[in-house]
Amino acid sequence: MSGPALPRFPGGFTWGVSTSAFQIEGAAHEDGRGESIWDVFCRKPGAIRDGQNADVADDHYHRWREDVELMARLGVGAYRFSIAWPRVQPTGRGPANAAGLDFYERLTDALLAHGITPVPTLYHWDLPQPLQSEGGWLARETAARFADYAGLAAARLADRIPLWITLNEPFVVTAYGYALGFHAPGVSLMLDALPAAHHQLLGHGLAAAALRSAGVSRVVITNNYSPAWPASDGEADMAAAHAFDVWHNRLFTDPLLLGAYPDLSPFGIPGVHGEPGGPGGPGPAWIRDGDLAVIAAPVDGLGVNYYRPARLSALPDALLPFQMEPIPGYPRTAFGWPVVPAGLTELLMLLKERYGAALPPVYITENGCSADDQVSAGGMVADEARISYLDGHIRAVHEAMAAGVDVRGYFVWSLLDNFEWTEGFHQRFGLVHVDFTTQRRTPKGSFGWYRDMIAAQRA
Ligand code: FCB
Repeated sequence: MSGPALPRFPGGFTWGVSTSAFQIEGAAHEDGRGESIWDVFCRKPGAIRDGQNADVADDHYHRWREDVELMARLGVGAYRFSIAWPRVQPTGRGPANAAGLDFYERLTDALLAHGITPVPTLYHWDLPQPLQSEGGWLARETAARFADYAGLAAARLADRIPLWITLNEPFVVTAYGYALGFHAPGVSLMLDALPAAHHQLLGHGLAAAALRSAGVSRVVITNNYSPAWPASDGEADMAAAHAFDVWHNRLFTDPLLLGAYPDLSPFGIPGVHGEPGGPGGPGPAWIRDGDLAVIAAPVDGLGVNYYRPARLSALPDALLPFQMEPIPGYPRTAFGWPVVPAGLTELLMLLKERYGAALPPVYITENGCSADDQVSAGGMVADEARISYLDGHIRAVHEAMAAGVDVRGYFVWSLLDNFEWTEGFHQRFGLVHVDFTTQRRTPKGSFGWYRDMIAAQRA
């Protein structure tokens, strides 16, 4: 359970909750929504646990009013959701599908009516399938398409929404979707997936410009990070941890904040770190002159998703020269992830040390845990492990702030139990329990805990 009262956060600190479109909306075929790569991936035999799919998910597309009411009861100041690109542009290009944007407009207006700031993410992994047929993020063209879509969404909503997030976790898209193939679109290109990393970053930069010209005042990108712990202090494990750190933590942040790719020599890739012809060497053909300037245009915040650290040992002669080792000595979530709140303080300190004055204000855009939550006969969900997880991690954020890291907000993943990608409905991350048969919402113990915590911070 939680410890003594939490330390006080600054008055303007934002307390929020996060979700994403594919994981909660359902209504897969309504109002002109096109198909996304995740719809297709869910049909691949063996891709999703028990063959589940998100055609209905939390039915949020129809129950959004109830979900906004829940947030109002929770007292959050902000709601991070994502806009489904295939609702706005069913084929990934061309004019906006007005009915798709209408949904997000209704949601936005209801949130504002309750004093909750909408924080949309434009890309939480649901690429329109027609773009995948043309290469998806491996195609440079997708970056331009993403900027068009960003412009269409902002043209409708920028007048009411000040802060927008471009991408969610381009690392996961690249590594799981294009390098290892266990997420959509399910291709296993190993290091040949790197163009997908670059094109997402380029897409971020182009979309940021499109958002700003539509009147958006604050643009943020969300990355996920795991402090990289070597399994031993032997040279090989230290090198493995370094390689993981570059691949997971630096690849999507150095170009953004420093305007250059990290040194990719741990992967046997020479000369990728500069512009073509620049000090870093010629660079591969997929980086063109001017790209890094687009990518590195200043952002107004860095979204940080944190769940756990990683412990690495060497994997000799492998393209990705590391393997993840268990982290003994900590409690585990239902997913088997170690619960290490101090890893969040460590991460925030690392970001500050690494990027210095180039680090913009930080928003913790996701943090939370899955548990095997059950509704009791009395209608209660006792999720002490989640309360303890959140309590520990919120303290960890405060500790980093006390040490000088500028953190402006914290968003719990997630408001609702939802479709957890390859795990289907098996990992429950919500503050609110969802019965996926009846769609009944039951606030868990952690819901009351977070509500009281927010109220105490405001008192
Ligand atoms: C993050 C994703 C989010 C959710 C959590 C558990 O990587 O951004 O959609 O699945 O993990």
